[in-house]
This record gives sequence, structure tokens and C-alpha cells, in this order.
Amino acid sequence: MYNTGKVVLGIIVFVLIFSSPFLINMSGDTSGMPEMTVPEGECLYPKDEMRANHMDILNTWRDKVVREDIRYTEINGEQVEMSLSHTCMKCHESRKEFCNVCHAYMEVNPYCWDCHVDPDDHKPTMTIDEEAAMEAAAKECALKEEEKAIQESLEINAEEEK
Ligand code: HEC
Ligand code: HEC
Ligand code: HEC
Repeated sequence: MYNTGKVVLGIIVFVLIFSSPFLINMSGDTSGMPEMTVPEGECLYPKDEMRANHMDILNTWRDKVVREDIRYTEINGEQVEMSLSHTCMKCHESRKEFCNVCHAYMEVNPYCWDCHVDPDDHKPTMTIDEEAAMEAAAKECALKEEEKAIQESLEINAEEEK
């Protein structure tokens, strides 16, 4: 009996060491990260929740807008436009100084900015007409992407059914 404690401790230590890169990634431990520019006030949801779930929130938003044509959602009794550029980037004014600082550190590289307006790149130079033209082009691009994705998922399903 006397060494049960040690065995249990050993297992715990082993599990922690084994899973630490994963845990750090999941918990978003950013202690060694360069500083980000964070606005005053509060985010749409509590900070920890945003840290962990912002990608899912953005995905849900995109699906609502693109598939169901629903553009607003209620958060804490307020109508919020489900928009990456119009909502998130209104408060988080710089992708470079916020999103990218953390993403670079965590080694993720979302491809969203191929189409969505990036305030760092477009703020001072893009006119409303240019922005509208870019949005129209992005829409076409997204439709093609979407068709491709649907096609691929059909193929995967067909594969799985075999
Ligand atoms: C009304 C302004 C506002 C909007 C809109 C907003 N944020 Fe935030 N966000 C903040 C503030 C302020 C903080 C810092 C909160 C804190 O320190 O408690 C924050 C924190 C965060 C964090 C956590 C940062 C950290 O330190 O870990 C993430 C991630 C984030 N926001 C992403 C987003 C995304 C993605 C969207 C759009 C879906 C969004 N935010 C919309 C103001 C906003
Ligand atoms: C505090 C750190 C942090 C901040 C700040 C942050 N992110 Fe992230 N983001 C992450 C992490 C970590 C992941 C990867 C999560 C995963 O793979 O499960 C991620 C993933 C994403 C993804 C999904 C990418 C993919 O390929 O699946 C999107 C989209 C995204 N972030 C958007 C944003 C936007 C927009 C902002 C700025 C408004 C932002 N993030 C700010 C940590 C952050
Ligand atoms: C191939 C181009 C393309 C890429 C890449 C892309 N999107 Fe979109 N996205 C669009 C288009 C077009 C719309 C529809 C715009 C509209 O109807 O207002 C849209 C709509 C959205 C919306 C809701 C409307 C808005 O104004 O934001 C969200 C949220 C969104 N996308 C998030 C993302 C995220 C997060 C990524 C990256 C993981 C991403 N998108 C990558 C083209 C793209």
C-alpha cells in the first residue's frame, strides 16, 4: 500500500508531461507571448470563452449569414451584426497587433483574410467602391469554394458508404 501514492503521482506527472503541449495549446497559455493590443472594455463574451471558442463563433456566424441569410444575433440583449470585419474588427482594430500576435505564437494561420477586409491593409487606402468591388469578387470566390467543399464532402460520404 505504501507506494500507491507514488504510483498515482507518477501517473499524474506522466500524463501532464505527455499532454502538456496539447494542454498549453488548448488553454491558450500565452505567458511567453509578445504583447497584443487589446481594447478597453469587454468582449462579446467573457475573455476565456473568447480565447477558447472564437473560431467556433466565427464559423457559426458565417454559416448563419451565408447559408441562412441571417445577419444579426442577440448577445446580452443587444443586436449584434454577425460580421468579422464589421463587428470583431471594429473593436480589434488591428489584425497584426491582435489576432496575428497570438496566431503566430500558436502557429495557426487562418486563411480568412484572402477575402475578408483586413483593417491593416485596407483602412487608409480603400474607397467604398473598391471595397464593394472586393466584396463582390469575394462572394463569387466563396461560392466557388463552397461548391468545391460540398463536392468534396459528397465524395467523402460516397467513399464512406462503400
Ligand atoms: C465591443 C468590442 C469588441 C468586439 C465587438 C469584439 N471584441 Fe474581442 N475583445 C474585446 C475586449 C475589450 C477584450 C479584452 C477583454 C478582457 O480583457 O476581459 C477582447 C478579448 C478578445 C479575445 C481574448 C484575448 C485574450 O487576451 O486572450 C479574443 C480571442 C477576441 N477578443 C476575439 C474577438 C473576435 C473573434 C470577435 C468577433 C467575433 C471579437 N473579439 C469581438 C472587445 C471586443
Ligand atoms: C489569445 C490568442 C488568440 C487571439 C488573440 C486570437 N486567436 Fe484566433 N485562434 C487562436 C488559437 C490558439 C487558434 C487555433 C485553435 C485550434 O486549432 O483549435 C485560433 C484559431 C482561429 C481561427 C480558426 C483557424 C483554423 O484554421 O481553424 C480563426 C478563424 C481565428 N482564430 C480568428 C481570429 C480572429 C479574427 C482574431 C482577432 C480578432 C483572433 N482569432 C484572435 C488564438 C487566438
Ligand atoms: C473565398 C473567400 C472567403 C474566405 C477564404 C472566407 N470567407 Fe467568410 N465570407 C465570404 C463571403 C463572400 C461571405 C458573405 C459576405 C456577405 O454576405 O456579407 C462571407 C461571410 C462570412 C461571415 C459573415 C459575414 C461577415 O461580414 O463577416 C463570417 C463571420 C465569415 N465569413 C467568417 C470567415 C472566417 C472566420 C474565415 C476564415 C476561417 C472566412 N470567413 C474565410 C468569403 C470568404
